[in-house]
Amino acid sequence: MQRPKTVACLPPLRRPTPALAGILTAMDAETTGTPDTTASLDSHCDQLIAWDHEHIWHPFTPMTSWFDKKDPLIITHGQDEFLFDIQGRRYIDGVSSLWCNIHGHRVPQLDAALARQIAQIAHTTLLGACNVPSIELAKLLADIAPPGLKKVFYSDNGSTAVEVALKMAWQFWRNIGRPEKCRFLALSAAYHGDTLGAVSVGGIEAFHDAYRGLCFDVMRANCPQIAAFSSANVSINKNVPFDSISFEDKYISQMVAENAASLAAIIVEPVIQGAGGMRMQPRGTLTRLRQLCNQHNILLICDEVMTGFGRTGAMFACNHENISPDLLCLSKGLTGGYMPLGATLTTQPVFDAFCGDPNAGKTFFHGHTFTGHPLACAVAIASIELMLASQLCARSMEMSGWLESGLAPLQHHPHVADIRITGAVAAVEIVQSRTPRIAYPWQRRVGGEICRRLRPHGVLLRPLGDVIVIMPPLTTRHENVATITRSLCEVLGV
Ligand SMILES: Cc1ncc(COP(=O)(O)O)c(C=O)c1O
Repeated sequence: MQRPKTVACLPPLRRPTPALAGILTAMDAETTGTPDTTASLDSHCDQLIAWDHEHIWHPFTPMTSWFDKKDPLIITHGQDEFLFDIQGRRYIDGVSSLWCNIHGHRVPQLDAALARQIAQIAHTTLLGACNVPSIELAKLLADIAPPGLKKVFYSDNGSTAVEVALKMAWQFWRNIGRPEKCRFLALSAAYHGDTLGAVSVGGIEAFHDAYRGLCFDVMRANCPQIAAFSSANVSINKNVPFDSISFEDKYISQMVAENAASLAAIIVEPVIQGAGGMRMQPRGTLTRLRQLCNQHNILLICDEVMTGFGRTGAMFACNHENISPDLLCLSKGLTGGYMPLGATLTTQPVFDAFCGDPNAGKTFFHGHTFTGHPLACAVAIASIELMLASQLCARSMEMSGWLESGLAPLQHHPHVADIRITGAVAAVEIVQSRTPRIAYPWQRRVGGEICRRLRPHGVLLRPLGDVIVIMPPLTTRHENVATITRSLCEVLGV
């Protein structure tokens, strides 16, 4: 995810410190994670790997390198915060199975909710019909969402939740007779998914530039972010107030004021920009964006696909600043990470713009076969009820402290430029040099190498370029969070 363009400007590689040198040498043959059984790579496993190579095209993966993998990870089952591979090795699921698992794996209450629903019906359509779990979930979402968000439009995943929000915002202005308000303001390093609308508002060149020719044009502003990369002592950046980013504030304010007449909506990942590198925003950023939208009559879309459902220490990231967006995108943790489901919540005024004469062309022409899927909705209800009963937001804040103390030994590491923590999300940014700040050439894939080194420790992480991301299920026990942070320190030679 590092940017090829910056590589050309980099000076030649420095000699790595002994601690990091170990990471950068050719991989030794990997040993094992924490062994659970002594099962060996048998012919069944070989067969699966062969079929995988023959038939599966993995997402976001340069497939030629995939074929070179010595020991591809085949997960067979999970329990709580653990995943088990086909050889019986046990790993802590340090990225919550791509940021979506919140209660751990095989949760009795969620399993039971699925079993109950499957005994009724697995799937029926929302086009021209209703089903019980999707109605009950909509009511529950309206109850827990930031105030005013009472209408729920279902889809299948995070990208479609964003796609729905973009189409709704665009059509809203058209429906109320303001078709000139048709543009979006998105932020640098934003990630909103991989469908074409979501890619259009995305701002990560390594992911999105290849598809620009297919996309619509958007206005782009720098995202306010906590000042990182201080040269001497890297402090653990938490809770930095908004006034430290006055430059971006002025810049965004000016851009919004100048373009208000044509702006339909501003879209933001509130509090943390995820795939862009777990970039954390100063307190007050959301409040400011809400004010700007109110002042200039622009809709605010909050993409909480990653931040929703406790990840930042509140049910929704918007709750940290007590703001309500006009459109809220949810997925991932919505079902506890069990099933694909997306939801776009909006307000009565937005909804009203789509009502009136059925022949007036104001209908929202969007829907998916599996919209409001009963199994997904049933498990989402169980997940939210369990979250509330087990006070998972408080748990997320507790984990924040565990991450902070566990990562503290890395503050003075010569290759750690920044440690960012918000709720149950930690990001450790690895650089070739702290002063001056020089990234490793992306081709070295240092972040990937570090994560590979963590596997024998029984820890599964997935980096974003050279940012090591730690975000295990919110129920992960203290000792296992400590195993992740201690293992990372060990791999980095601390
Ligand atoms: C903030 C945000 N929005 C949207 C998406 C896209 O979600 P999905 O992968 O379910 O399409 C993601 C995925 O990581 C995300 O982090």
